[in-house]
Amino acid sequence: MGFTEEIGKRRTFGIISHPDAGKTTLTEKLLLFGGAIQEAGAVKSNKIKKGATSDFMEIERQRGISVATSVLAFNYRDKKINILDTPGHKDFAEDTFRTLTAVDSVIVVIDVAKGVEEQTEKLVEVCRMRNIPMLVFINKLDREGKDAFDLMDEVEQKLGLTVTPLSYPIGMGYDFQGIYNIWEKNINLFSGDSRKNIEETIAFDDLNNPQLDEIVGAAPAEKLREELELISEVYPPFDREQYLAGKQQPVFFGSALNNFGVRELLDCFIDIAPPPRPKDSDTRTVEPEEDKFSGFVFKIHANMDPKHRDRIAFVKIVSGVFERNKPYLHVRNKKKLKFSSPNAFFAEKKEIVDISYPGDIVGLHDTGNFKIGDTLTEGEDMSFKGIPNFSPEHFRYINNADPMKSKQLEKGIDQLMDEGVAQLFTLELNNRKVIGTVGALQYEVIQYRLEHEYGAKCSYENFPAYKACWIKPEDPKNEEFAEFKRIKQKFLAKDKQGQLVFLADSEFSIQMAQQKYPSVKLHFTSEF
Ligand code: G4P
Repeated sequence: MGFTEEIGKRRTFGIISHPDAGKTTLTEKLLLFGGAIQEAGAVKSNKIKKGATSDFMEIERQRGISVATSVLAFNYRDKKINILDTPGHKDFAEDTFRTLTAVDSVIVVIDVAKGVEEQTEKLVEVCRMRNIPMLVFINKLDREGKDAFDLMDEVEQKLGLTVTPLSYPIGMGYDFQGIYNIWEKNINLFSGDSRKNIEETIAFDDLNNPQLDEIVGAAPAEKLREELELISEVYPPFDREQYLAGKQQPVFFGSALNNFGVRELLDCFIDIAPPPRPKDSDTRTVEPEEDKFSGFVFKIHANMDPKHRDRIAFVKIVSGVFERNKPYLHVRNKKKLKFSSPNAFFAEKKEIVDISYPGDIVGLHDTGNFKIGDTLTEGEDMSFKGIPNFSPEHFRYINNADPMKSKQLEKGIDQLMDEGVAQLFTLELNNRKVIGTVGALQYEVIQYRLEHEYGAKCSYENFPAYKACWIKPEDPKNEEFAEFKRIKQKFLAKDKQGQLVFLADSEFSIQMAQQKYPSVKLHFTSEF
């Protein structure tokens, strides 16, 4: 198979949802269809169970699982599918944001009873900002939930999407009878048997066919006809170009647990989802079909074995062919590196591969060279854009609790920050270190890992910040900037890249600063 065909075969995507909407269950059913696993229950959930926030064994166990489920690959029909894992727990939201820079499309799972929830809103917003094509799967139709039209309204309003249903439920909960597949024009009847892998479908070119009344009953058949007519009046027809541009989002209904509506989703996904997409770098747009290899690190995972401090850097291949043992340029370090045992992923296994294509993810063993966002090329000096840091929500001073181990502490902090566990800010005034995180859980993770992997001890102290704002003055030499720096001296810090940051203590002080110093622009992500 040629290079272009290999690229055309790949579908690399992520599933996003609020915890408990059914992401793990759906992933598992997709793997079952691909024959990558044989039984339900094989994919372990990597979610942090409720109430486990201070249970380290739980966190460590989750870390182990999340290495295994970072990339789940399988073949379906003639396509190679890579599902990138996105943690649902909000304390790990930043991991998910970064993973979204490596996907070519997304499936959004929504619970029919709960509707659009908080995490879904945040994650969809990130996808919308990047025009990532999205499919919506409304799950748990075997339970009583919201009316389908109301839900689609909610999706449009709360998530700012433009939807068009490609399947539609016949009844719901106790009365759930099946799915009318608008995309394929057939009906799939629900038997509620989760062991059944492939259901029988009945094709319907003409909804007025009286056979429909016989199959689902006269009243539900009539209701379905009416609702489908309403759909054709209210919603725009599916337009693939609009979907690929991130401007229209097809909706599917089903029940992942009962394996219902999943095949419809997968078959349509295979037909419409995009192959690997071009990516912007600081110098140009890189096309997957280019013959020279390029890729970027979107995730770093520390090994579970504290004796070997090696890590796996996950690289998304953007263009060209990645080959084992070929030297590539680590652009930030200006160093050539060779990888003798790159891992590819299949279902939950990983294996050494000689060659990988755009859209694929390779896991590279790393002894501390990589940082999230790093670019690898065949020699070209360019860096991929689009892995910004977001402002943390929690801030604490980190102190050394064992003076004999200050080197270890420094190294540990340095490497954990490169992994993207949290963000480090060094105060301008006194060089004290402040750790910013998305969730309180990370402080415990950091303390635990510093001790177990680096032999260092730390303690924390509250730092009264509300948000980190990255600063860009219009003119670094003007009076206004000098005054800003003098007045806000106590709140200024450098991030790990050396960018100047204002650690504001309230929304009010951000507003005041914006009013008083209009030429000092404040940004809420590190990339602007
Ligand atoms: P997540 O990864 O998005 O957090 O969700 P997960 O798949 O773990 O699903 C959350 C719960 O919802 C699970 O129940 C799961 O069995 C259930 N679920 C998923 N899809 C459906 C569906 O289509 N219908 C119904 N009725 N339930 C569904 P649990 O009791 O929390 O976990 P478990 O003990 O079953 O694993």
